[in-house]
Amino acid sequence: MEQGNYSFQYDVYDDISQLSEQDALLLATARKVTEKAYAPYSRFHVGAAALLENGETVSSTNQENASYPVGICAERVLLGTISSLYPGTSIQAIAVSYNSEEIKSDHPISPCGMCRQALLETELVLKKPIRLILGGQAGKVYVINTVRSLLPLAFTGDELS
Ligand code: THU
Repeated sequence: MEQGNYSFQYDVYDDISQLSEQDALLLATARKVTEKAYAPYSRFHVGAAALLENGETVSSTNQENASYPVGICAERVLLGTISSLYPGTSIQAIAVSYNSEEIKSDHPISPCGMCRQALLETELVLKKPIRLILGGQAGKVYVINTVRSLLPLAFTGDELS
């Protein structure tokens, strides 16, 4: 018997002021767009923003529904929007932030399992690592260099043919 082992490294910054200007701008965009979330049920407002290789920035928010499972996370709204507006265009980085009516937004959140799967598919299709910049409205910021590291032993399209 052997044991597998998995670990990954990510960067931890004390706050947004330590980021490069480009990363700080993207996180600031994700923070701001939380205002546009439609999240009347969870009252947890998520914003995401992507910087594309063509220089465009695209942003999104979570969209909830009275039938709760119909709701969709900001990250998957973002991927669908990018793929529809700019198909095949590489994504340099995605920032994710949030604001809540219940709790303080003072630490990073990271994408849910379903979004990790969707992000990984996008990364594989585009053949370029997507950097993730994760932070609340304040506090520490995590930078993860590739989505792949968030989903060990991933199921991908390679398994299907
Ligand atoms: N949500 C996101 O949009 N992204 C995340 O990374 C975590 C969770 C949304 C889903 C739901 O609308 C609300 O946040 C609470 O789970």
